[in-house]
Amino acid sequence: MLRSNTCGELRLTDIDKNVILSGWVQRVRDMGNMLWIDLRDRYGITQLMLEENRNTPETLALARTLGREFVVQVHGTVVERVSKNDKIPTGAIEIKVETLTVMNAAKLPPFKIEDETDGGDDIRMKYRYLDLRRNVVRQNLQLRHKMAQQTRAYMDAQDFIEVETPVLIKSTPEGARDFVVPSRMNPGEFYALPQSPQTFKQLLMVSGFDKYYQIVKCFRDEDLRADRQPEFTQIDCEMSFVEQEDVLTMFEGLIRHLFKNVKDIDLPPVPRMTYAEAARRYGSDKPDTRFGMEFCYLKSPEKTQNNLVHGKNFGLFEEAEMVVGICAKNCADYTRKQMDELTEWLKRPQIGAKALIYARYNADGTLKSSVDKFYSEEDLKNWANEMEAAPGDLMLILAGETNKVRKQLSELRLEMGNRLGLRKPDDFKALWVLDFPLLEYSPDDDRWFAMHHPFTSPKPEDIALLTTDLGAVRANAYDMVINGTEVGGGSVRIFQRPLQQQMFEILGFSAQEAKAQFGFLMDAFEYGAPPHAGIAFGFDRLCSIFGGADSIRDYIAFPKNNSGRDVMIDGPSVIDQKQLDELKIKTVL
Ligand code: AMO
Repeated sequence: MLRSNTCGELRLTDIDKNVILSGWVQRVRDMGNMLWIDLRDRYGITQLMLEENRNTPETLALARTLGREFVVQVHGTVVERVSKNDKIPTGAIEIKVETLTVMNAAKLPPFKIEDETDGGDDIRMKYRYLDLRRNVVRQNLQLRHKMAQQTRAYMDAQDFIEVETPVLIKSTPEGARDFVVPSRMNPGEFYALPQSPQTFKQLLMVSGFDKYYQIVKCFRDEDLRADRQPEFTQIDCEMSFVEQEDVLTMFEGLIRHLFKNVKDIDLPPVPRMTYAEAARRYGSDKPDTRFGMEFCYLKSPEKTQNNLVHGKNFGLFEEAEMVVGICAKNCADYTRKQMDELTEWLKRPQIGAKALIYARYNADGTLKSSVDKFYSEEDLKNWANEMEAAPGDLMLILAGETNKVRKQLSELRLEMGNRLGLRKPDDFKALWVLDFPLLEYSPDDDRWFAMHHPFTSPKPEDIALLTTDLGAVRANAYDMVINGTEVGGGSVRIFQRPLQQQMFEILGFSAQEAKAQFGFLMDAFEYGAPPHAGIAFGFDRLCSIFGGADSIRDYIAFPKNNSGRDVMIDGPSVIDQKQLDELKIKTVL
């Protein structure tokens, strides 16, 4: 037997028991006549004790050779500690060591394997297997495990069947870039790794599976961010004979089940907002609704009657399609320097604002703005009324073209939310965003793209617009947003061949291209396809939100860095000439 107990298990009730423990040396304290070792495993830390007048000189000498992370085994007896440590569950006892065996020596680890480590990101990723020994990192993966277990429990109780779909599939031109895999048996041809199992789950509906789900790896070759990895995991789901409302109810149920069973939180019913409303109130299709600071319009295309900036010869506002602001509570005392920093922050290329206009509502009731030359205190008072600003508040205003200004102000709103501590990680606000546009136009490509994907159904009442006003067609598509992160998205699908064909035409596929790419799906639609709809949740994102973290990397055992590299295994890597020859591939570098 290599161990009788774990390092997190023994208590005062175990006094006098003979035990065998195995684990890693966290730390050795040598006081001369006594020597203590903290022994660690996944379950906790237990203190071991050796004594000059009790243990053999050989055992003591061996104990003095131990370094951090040595793997050792001890036989001993559980005794009550003289000075107890109430910070750890095993803190009332220690093990009086009788024999000590070194199972494996260890090199000095490149960083401290403790909650507060001295290791930077790069070194921890290179030695990820050591990083994973740390409590905080392991706990993240334990949370992930619990999330997966609870997901399966809910889906199983709702009669969903988990079906695996292939990982080597065919490249499709829509969406993000594919990762491709050469085929030795089919020289010159490539598989693609799935960006999602979308078409397969639809085919399973044609097969009559009715309720499908899968916790599944997806692969997308896109630029990476804190909430994006090239390989990530979805809870992918599809249902037959359902309408949008059925899907929303079912998966709101899943999210509430997860909150209840993983975090013991009763999430209230999830509010709903249309895409248009989210854009108007927050400038984003994934608003963080943990705080208000909603957009207030001083001038907008809809607001021709009540334009509060017009006629004062201020060029920026006169020319702008939209003038819109937010009110930052209790920020009127922002210094000139702070305002300059905020302006520079907004002007960075990632955001690209041209100017930040501000008006302070001072605590004494006076109003001052950066555009005092053009606007009187009376004008500023009107702005303050519109923005519900009170003495002490700061009004931050941007002007320009609608879509750009909304995006920029949305960033500023989030930034101010951070600065004011309004985005608390332990506060959870979920939201359904509904009625997305079906299509979006790309001026660069001079063509329309599916906003969600090409299999998304237009709203039946908007189908007539497909021949007259593509930009106005709304989709039966929905996203779930939690704390400003899109955690899931889905749609009601097209299930009839003619409409799917029309959709491909709108997206610029010729009949031959559509047949070559998606012929299998359109053929399937001719063999009795039921109406169906579905959704996929970003599992890594859900885990990081539940854990209160910004980056999904902390919830993935072996993540990639921002350049898509695994620095531990050093991949991707070149392959040898023999492999290339077999695959009939020549690299041109
Ligand atoms: P979508 O592309 O919206 O929909 O993806 C669903 C969810 O997956 C998560 N996600 C990601 N997470 C981490 N890294 C990434 N690179 C990444 N990309 C997406 C997001 C997102 O909401 N087949 C459709 C779903 C459907 O229509 O049923 C799909 O994949 O949280």
